[in-house]
Formats: sequence, structure tokens, C-alpha cells
Amino acid sequence: MTPTKIVLDCDPGIDDALAIALAHGSPEVEIAGITTVGGNVALERTTGNALRLREFLGMTGVPVTAGSAGALLRPRVDAAEVHGESGLGAARLPDPVLPVAGGHAVDFLVDTLAAEPGEITLVAIGPLTNVALAVRKEPRIVHWAKDVVILGGAYTRGNLTPAAEFNIGADPEAASIVFDAGWTVTMIGLDSARHAQARAAIVDEMRAMGRLGRDLLVPSVEFYGLATAADGPAIYDACAIAHVIDPTLHTLVPARVDVETAGRFTAGMTVTDFAPKGAANALVATELDVPRFWDLVLAVYRDLADRLG
Ligand code: RIB
Ligand code: CA
Repeated sequence: MTPTKIVLDCDPGIDDALAIALAHGSPEVEIAGITTVGGNVALERTTGNALRLREFLGMTGVPVTAGSAGALLRPRVDAAEVHGESGLGAARLPDPVLPVAGGHAVDFLVDTLAAEPGEITLVAIGPLTNVALAVRKEPRIVHWAKDVVILGGAYTRGNLTPAAEFNIGADPEAASIVFDAGWTVTMIGLDSARHAQARAAIVDEMRAMGRLGRDLLVPSVEFYGLATAADGPAIYDACAIAHVIDPTLHTLVPARVDVETAGRFTAGMTVTDFAPKGAANALVATELDVPRFWDLVLAVYRDLADRLG
């Protein structure tokens, strides 16, 4: 089967790292490029982590292009208390040798989607600043992108605030631009992704995965667990890649999603109407088939681990 070509906008980030490993390890996905944004940690660190992951995973042909350091209008928020100052928890990957690409992520996103209209899926697993700027710079990308899939949002409760999920809450204005751009956003939110928990049995399987487990998966996930949920941290971002690999893993429901930007307590809330009077602008994940998710993720990681030694 022809792999799905993606461009991945991210803020590595522990779960971003697991998503990148999943995308690279899966024969169903071809990564045309990685762009970085400030989010979990500062842009310099998210970009450095993307470069480290590229070399550790053996993805040296994949361009990494840096993007926006902060949100369109608001002060930068950060999640270093969750992802560690390095952004990869307790994982210590070698410093990168290959440099970041020249230019800006926004131009890379526009140029890459323009070069292959209808062929590339845009996957965004960090704050949506780069994607929003790309939409503003070249509105036609909403037609050129084959699909747009985000890890972000929540119609139940947030994790940055009670109302806002981190990626949306970090830049609500950018998210509002993205949801109102005219394409249909596949929104993999906390409502389903919170169930993708790497419990102890999962981590034990990761321990048997050679360098991949020893140097990346286990030290990052264990740190994530200490910072978020001792019974098993949810590896949110991997859910967006898992959707690209197997769209049957999630239950998706059409909805109208509006992003709150004015609320004092609700800014960044993805106000989700599953019975809109007008057109839907999103397909919202309401359920994840958790056993099949882990079967897929662990199978890809085992295969990747065999390749890495
Ligand atoms: O809310 C989870 C999201 O915020 C994930 O993308 C995580 O990496 C953080 O960016
Ligand atoms: Ca992320």
C-alpha cells in the first residue's frame, strides 16, 4: 500500500518524540518534513530535539525547519514541568550533527503542500502558530493539503486549564484561524487521547526494545508518568499518527468547533457542537480503540527497534 505522505509540525516534547518514532517506524507513513514550534519547551529546544530524534532514529533525509517561537498574540506558555527542561524527560540523545534547514517553517509548509497538491497530510501536534501563519500567507493550502490532522482540543475538559487543552490554549488565536480556514480539521483531542496510557505492562515491553527502548522510550515515558499520571501517562501525540496509519482506530464525529479567544477563564476552549445548524468544520474523535492502538504502536516500535539494534 502506498504510504501516506505527511508533514509534521511539532514541539518535541516527550509524546511528540513517540509520535515521530511511530511515524518513522511505520511503513504506512512517509515523513516529507518536520517543522518545529515553541510549545512544551522553547523553540530552540523543540528544534534541537527534532534534530536529535532525526539522527537517533536514522531519518537523516528528512528536513527539519524551525518555525514560530511563540503565539500570535499571547505570552508563551510552556510545559517544562511535564516534559523536563530538555523537553525529552530523562532521555539523553546525542547532540545533532546535521543542521536545521534554512528558511522558516511557514514557508516550508506552504511550499511543500503547493508542490504536491492533494498528496500530503498536514499533521500538527503542537501549538498551531505555524499552521495559522501558513493559512494566512497562502490560503490555498486548505485545498492543497490532502488532510489536516491535529492532536489538540477537548470537548470535555482541558489540561492547560479546566477549559483548554495545551496546544489550543497556548495559541487560541492561531487555533481559531486553523478551524475557520475552510478545510475539515480532524481533531484528535484529549477526550479520546487521554485513554492512550502507557501503563506499566506497556513500559515493560518497551524495556525489551534495544536502543530505542533504553535510550528513548523508557526514560521519556517514565519521566512523563512521574509528571502526569503514575498509572500511565497518555502518549497523546502518537494518537494523531496512529490515526494516519489506521483511520479506523478512532470514532470520528462531524462537528462545528469554535475556539474561545475572549474568555477570561475559557480562552483556548474548543467549543464543540455535534449538532451544528451550519456546516461542520471538523471531524472530532470521540473514542479510541485502545487495545488496537497499543497493538499497532508496539508492533511498529518492535520493528523499528530491530532496525536500530
Ligand atoms: O495536550 C497535549 C499536547 O500538548 C501534546 O501535543 C503535548 O506534546 C503538548 O504539546
Ligand atoms: Ca506536542
